[in-house]
Amino acid sequence: MKVLSAVAWPYANGPRHLGHVAGFAVPSDVFSRYMRMAGHDVLMVSGSDEHGTPILVLADQQGVTPQALVDKNHAIIAAELADLGCSYDLYTRTTTANHYAVVQEMFRQVHANGYMIEQTTRGAISPSTGRTLPDRYIEGTCPICGYAEARGDQCDNCGNQLEPTDLIEPHSRVNGETPEFIETQHFFLDLPALADALREWLDGREQSGTWRPNVIKFSLNILDEIRPRAMSRDIDWGIPIPLDGWDDASQPVAKRLYVWFDAVIGYLSASIEWARRLGDPERWRDWWNDPDALSYYFMGKDNITFHSQIWPAELLAYAGKGAKGGEPGTYGVLDLPTEVVSSEYLTMEGKQFSTSRGYVVYIRDVLERYGPDAIRYYICAAGPENQDSNFTWADFVQRNNSELVAGWGNLVNRTAAMIAKNFGEIPQPGALEPVDEAVRERVLAAFDTVGDLLARQRVKAAIAEAMRTVGEVNKYVTDTAPFRLKGEDERERLATILHTLIQCVADLNRILAPFLPHSTNRVDAVIGGDGDLMPMPVLEEVHGLDEDAEHAYPIVTGDYSATPAWESVPVRVGAPIAKPTPVFTKLDESVIEEELARAGMGGDA
Ligand code: MF3
Ligand code: ZN
Repeated sequence: MKVLSAVAWPYANGPRHLGHVAGFAVPSDVFSRYMRMAGHDVLMVSGSDEHGTPILVLADQQGVTPQALVDKNHAIIAAELADLGCSYDLYTRTTTANHYAVVQEMFRQVHANGYMIEQTTRGAISPSTGRTLPDRYIEGTCPICGYAEARGDQCDNCGNQLEPTDLIEPHSRVNGETPEFIETQHFFLDLPALADALREWLDGREQSGTWRPNVIKFSLNILDEIRPRAMSRDIDWGIPIPLDGWDDASQPVAKRLYVWFDAVIGYLSASIEWARRLGDPERWRDWWNDPDALSYYFMGKDNITFHSQIWPAELLAYAGKGAKGGEPGTYGVLDLPTEVVSSEYLTMEGKQFSTSRGYVVYIRDVLERYGPDAIRYYICAAGPENQDSNFTWADFVQRNNSELVAGWGNLVNRTAAMIAKNFGEIPQPGALEPVDEAVRERVLAAFDTVGDLLARQRVKAAIAEAMRTVGEVNKYVTDTAPFRLKGEDERERLATILHTLIQCVADLNRILAPFLPHSTNRVDAVIGGDGDLMPMPVLEEVHGLDEDAEHAYPIVTGDYSATPAWESVPVRVGAPIAKPTPVFTKLDESVIEEELARAGMGGDA
């Protein structure tokens, strides 16, 4: 099957922290790696989301251009994701000429089909700079509850949605001045005209019974209050509206497309870019035009609306499948999402992640200090998959030491050590006893149970099942006690147990490969393989494909065609096994206090 793995586009406003990658980056990679192992043709795409007001404000503060700021942050984020092992076919960015062209093609057709309607709204501008002030940068007193720090888009105290003009004594969060309100024209996506088509699609998705219950419920609910949504903004950093009369010279204030008609189209533009870079420019169509192709979208829960309503509405509008009819553009009829896979929130030591307070775990730092798989393991086992979760350093150290090191690492280690000491190579087994057959059956069954859970994006249950099987194989060692078999007459029995054991380890190493790909390669080397079982992503410096050909930047890509199959492969009798060096590292308890102190959370608390 063709499987599109569409991963939410991180915002390029700084390095990523644990909260950013726990919800979707790692889970989507585990899923994609598994699907490749299961024989599917996976296309995994994402990129940096580089437009919008927060980037502009930040660039101003730093005295750099927005392009320079996102060049820097994109390179940082791409490197972090590659080092974490996220196996993108393409991780690109929204400031490419290719992305601009795809977005503008989508806009033109949606507009030509009648689903982009012009409306006049009230916008705020800063009198001192002449720049527009987005809703969330205006603060004032909530007219409903009286909270003094309500934002122009909503009140965080009572939760009501607001308009900036609702606020009492509105002022700019950037410099405190009173905004000036002006009339401004914008394009709105005519969601009511697409509501029936959306409902039909969502009903079908509900019947499939595969979406996480909260996601499908939420998505169906918001259909009841559907209204047109602005797809452009008064701002000069972003993708221009490709229509006569909408260029900066013709407009009182510059207009650009909004993130929900920009980054969200990145799934398509990245697929197209991938095919173009491959030299097979129409190849993306296999994942987008074939109604049997599957697509999985991974994101945090604050993004559900955009993936289960706005993006599908844009796809329907582009194909002319709403109440106003119309025709598809050059991309043809594009597939709607098969699954919208949304995670919940992660907190840190009981608090919200906060970069300003330093309550944060930067991915770069954990990669340097603990390596990619320790953190991948934690995210898989304890991440916010279907409920809000709390990261603590104590939990991280405990899981690393008692599960990864004492569970899996120890099994690998003692298996290799016993074989190295007694045989120096994988021994030929004798006849299996029932206890050997039983453990083999347990491990072979885990391919089915773990695989079935992963195919349904149940990463947490899947890794728990895999680790439970590790425990059973550890118990097999205890039960058969190969370390006690010392006599010459026990040598064949010893060979049988150790052969059974290393076969179990080899199988478990495959079962754990989607979660822990880096360690899988190291374990593979320990048990006589060549140590490159799981393909890894690479950072590659490329140039733009169009008028941006002068611009060089990194992408994440990779060749995953050598991905091993999701099945047991017999170990090779006679393969040399040396005395192992441990694959996983035990962490000292002092790590907990050290890290808490770093985050300013240490001390008596
Ligand atoms: N960068 C935005 C966010 O983090 C949007 C990501 S999802 C995409 O919320 F659809 F825009 F890609
Ligand atoms: Zn309020």
